[in-house]
Amino acid sequence: MVELGDLREGIMPADLHDAVRTVLGLPGLVLAGIGTNLACQNGIIPDEANMAELTALTTSVEAEFGITVAVVSGGNSANLPWALAPGVAIGRVNHLRLGESLLLGREPVGRSVVEGLDAHAFSLVGEVIESQWKPSVPRGSRGRTAFGLPVDRPGEGAEEHRVIVALGRQDLDVDGIVAPDGVQVLGASSDHLVLRTAGARPAVGAELRFGIDYGALLQAMTSPSVGRRYIRP
Ligand SMILES: Cc1ncc(COP(=O)(O)O)c(C=O)c1O
Repeated sequence: MVELGDLREGIMPADLHDAVRTVLGLPGLVLAGIGTNLACQNGIIPDEANMAELTALTTSVEAEFGITVAVVSGGNSANLPWALAPGVAIGRVNHLRLGESLLLGREPVGRSVVEGLDAHAFSLVGEVIESQWKPSVPRGSRGRTAFGLPVDRPGEGAEEHRVIVALGRQDLDVDGIVAPDGVQVLGASSDHLVLRTAGARPAVGAELRFGIDYGALLQAMTSPSVGRRYIRP
């Protein structure tokens, strides 16, 4: 991997030739290709300039060492707007490593849905464990909550219908979920997701279905407390 601006992983471009020389001199290693990764750490967008730099590095390595670099891996899902733009100068890039776009159907930089892909392949399902009317304003003197400072919400006053779903911060990043229509996330603790429901009043035992973003999906898929079910369409 070569560092091209996002400052996460990678050999600095000025050190690339030395690294290639070292790899070529080691009998147990094969130089399969050259790659870069952008966007993940500092949001650096893959564009004509940094992709042309990758191509130029590839051709300079090939010229110096008399080899053909088979794989030139331009990046991840953030490369798609560049790669799919009409008339793009693709240069030597012949490979991308796609995760989010394939799984969630979106490119990460602008968050737009990639044409032809489904942005709803995953949903998060949680069980309602409490459902009742409650005052919307807390009662008593207030301090910190289990996870920081209390949040005051505008429009509080009357009673509201509340639901608790058995999901929480132990399971996933609750900021990365999208509640169903008419349902608002009020907060979450370790294993309780507190919701206000404007329309339907789901009963205890009912299941609510949420949308889920990349960070929340990552945590849900690796959490031992979240079950996973694969359904063939
Ligand atoms: C080096 C590298 N390549 C590719 C990917 C896939 O990225 P994306 O999910 O944005 O397609 C990642 C994601 O973690 C990564 O770290």
